[in-house]
Amino acid sequence: MQIIPIAGGKGGVGKSLLAVNLSIALAQMNKKVVLADLDLGGSNLHMMLGSGKKQAGIGSWLTRTDIEFEDIILDSEYRNLRFIPGDSEIPGLANIQQNQKRRLIKHLSSLVADFVILDLGAGTSFNTLDFFMTSGAGIIVTAPALTATLNAYLFLKNVVFRMISTSFTGKSPARAYLDELASNGDGLQRVYIPGLLEKLEELDPVKAAGFMKKLERFSPMLVMNMIENPKDSVKAEKIKRSCEQYLGIDMEYLGVIYRDPLQDIALNSRLPIIKYKPESVISMAVYRIADRIIQKSSEEPDLMDIRSLEESYQNTEMEAEMDFDYKMQDLENLLHSGALTKGELIDTIKSLQYENSVLRKENNLLKSKIVSAAAQGYKV
Ligand SMILES: Nc1ncnc2c1ncn2[C@@H]1O[C@H](COP(=O)(O)OP(=O)(O)OP(=O)(O)O)[C@@H](O)[C@H]1O
Ligand SMILES: [Mg+2]
Repeated sequence: MQIIPIAGGKGGVGKSLLAVNLSIALAQMNKKVVLADLDLGGSNLHMMLGSGKKQAGIGSWLTRTDIEFEDIILDSEYRNLRFIPGDSEIPGLANIQQNQKRRLIKHLSSLVADFVILDLGAGTSFNTLDFFMTSGAGIIVTAPALTATLNAYLFLKNVVFRMISTSFTGKSPARAYLDELASNGDGLQRVYIPGLLEKLEELDPVKAAGFMKKLERFSPMLVMNMIENPKDSVKAEKIKRSCEQYLGIDMEYLGVIYRDPLQDIALNSRLPIIKYKPESVISMAVYRIADRIIQKSSEEPDLMDIRSLEESYQNTEMEAEMDFDYKMQDLENLLHSGALTKGELIDTIKSLQYENSVLRKENNLLKSKIVSAAAQGYKV
């Protein structure tokens, strides 16, 4: 069984879209899949899955004694796909206790399935980081906007910190050094990881070696969503380079997904796009990602060498070119065939305009952060 957590740092980049559609794609490929909504503060996966009424989920299981874990694993309308809802209405759920989290992870790890997909929330809370660390091969979803790529990088930086922090436990000079860094306000955020590792190796070589082993097994995969043209795909390379250089992690490029107005229509019809339009540009990208995941799961981990990593970037960029041509053709066909009604077109434009205005506000807010980040050359 393989756990695939899906995170990204930034909100609204398409984590849930990928979680839902990837789960359906894998299930259609005859894999047994369980999809779990771990966006505990704001779960909405049941809506995206189109599963209708709200049912007891992780929140109820955590807060009530009369519900067994098996009770919250629901069958979906898709063969091979089961679903664990989140229960967004329970306040304070985003901050579950350490022992509750451990219990939850234990249950998720012992599910009988080929793949367990975890849809995680935005941000870098300890919960989200810990859920992401349940697997060495989670997916990071990002988008071409600078705020999104920067957030993807910062999310991974936080994961590496968390890995360091949980590797140096007990009373030791290394632990004391980390505690002092942590108590120093945002000191931890400014730390240069290769330098920190050197220092920790000096202080506690045994635990440092243990940490390095963990880091070697950690190879997240990147998905660039909402791209508009093939050039956007190349932005993934910047994240990859920063991760290699500053965090010591290699990242594979799992795929690109174009922004597609059809998704809004699918959403309005309360259907996952892979069901609504299996031949849409998003669905095809998701099938490609599912294929790659299945292929990877049958490979020996050691076979993933640096050369194939480089190739993953070249191939994905090529796919971005191909999808672009397809998308243009697709849109034209839609307009000419009348499949996209005037009302739907107006709705699409309206929602894009709204999205734009939200993004603009967010951009302004984050501008100052980016400026200071850029001043430090991306290694915030
Ligand atoms: N490739 C795409 N083309 C068009 N719309 C998209 C695409 N990907 C995602 N969206 C839309 O963007 C919005 C955000 O997507 P989604 O909810 O999957 O993001 P998220 O990362 O899970 O957000 P959150 O952090 O709030 O959980 C949704 O309305 C979704 O339909
Ligand atoms: Mg989401």
